[in-house]
Amino acid sequence: MTIRELAPAKINLFLQVLGRRTDNYHELVTVFQTISLHDEVELEPCSHGIQLICDASDLPAGSENLAYRAAALLLPRTAGGVVIRLKKTIPWQAGLGGGSSDAAAVLRGLNGLWELGMSSSELAELAAQLGSDVPFFVYGGTAVGTGRGELIQPLHLSISLHLLVVKPPFGLSTPAVFRSYRPLLAEAPSVDEFLQALNSGDQTLIGKLLHNDLEAAAFELRPELAQLKEKLLQNGALGCLLSGSGSSLFAILPQGYDADQWLGLLPNGFRGFLCIPEKGNRALAAECIV
Ligand code: C5P
Repeated sequence: MTIRELAPAKINLFLQVLGRRTDNYHELVTVFQTISLHDEVELEPCSHGIQLICDASDLPAGSENLAYRAAALLLPRTAGGVVIRLKKTIPWQAGLGGGSSDAAAVLRGLNGLWELGMSSSELAELAAQLGSDVPFFVYGGTAVGTGRGELIQPLHLSISLHLLVVKPPFGLSTPAVFRSYRPLLAEAPSVDEFLQALNSGDQTLIGKLLHNDLEAAAFELRPELAQLKEKLLQNGALGCLLSGSGSSLFAILPQGYDADQWLGLLPNGFRGFLCIPEKGNRALAAECIV
């Protein structure tokens, strides 16, 4: 039996840095949202060990890959092994959580394949060892993340938005963006205000209250991102924001938008993905191929 899991990308609709911690991380409050852009993870049982086969030759296929390390965390709990096949669509170094989502998909899939019977909160606890974003992807959908982003409170919301996710031809390194972060002097919306807007479903209000404290740092490192945000807003986007630590931006498009017109706004080398929010991973049912 081979198990196939979808590994969705995420955007951060809201991200506030609350302070620097003593462990080199920053204390955050963030609102995560999985989107329809996704990688695919296939898991095939084998007699022993872990083999990772990735269709993107510039990504590591050994223990530096988070998907491999996710399997290594669960391997001591089984007598068997696994071949992992990774089909990449989510751009990397993009603030879209692709590597973290692949890792969570491996944890979810192996929990089923190896009949480990672990709960989502047990998987999320293991996932936190792999990276701050990985626990969110155990759940997917809409969720609030606190701590360094690893403490997850799923929100049972069904959000309807038309999104344009833009990946520039360059990436940004998460530690570099956090290092460049300086506390904002201007007033920012609170997470409660943002969650109220999200609950109301008012797309214009949601667009207005999108917020990311890391945006100024990313824009300082790459001023062309600020220019593109301005252009998307001038053309009628309801809101536009850096996702996570970048380098991707996402824009909320108005009803009845013309896809070609929006994609036509992107500078050379920038890739655009038209997406919608996804509900939790239960909706993205794992598919078994016998
Ligand atoms: O947890 P993860 O491995 O994804 O974090 C990568 C880096 O991003 C950390 O080493 C740290 O420099 C930075 N980071 C941070 N505060 C967070 C999450 C990440 O400073 N809450």
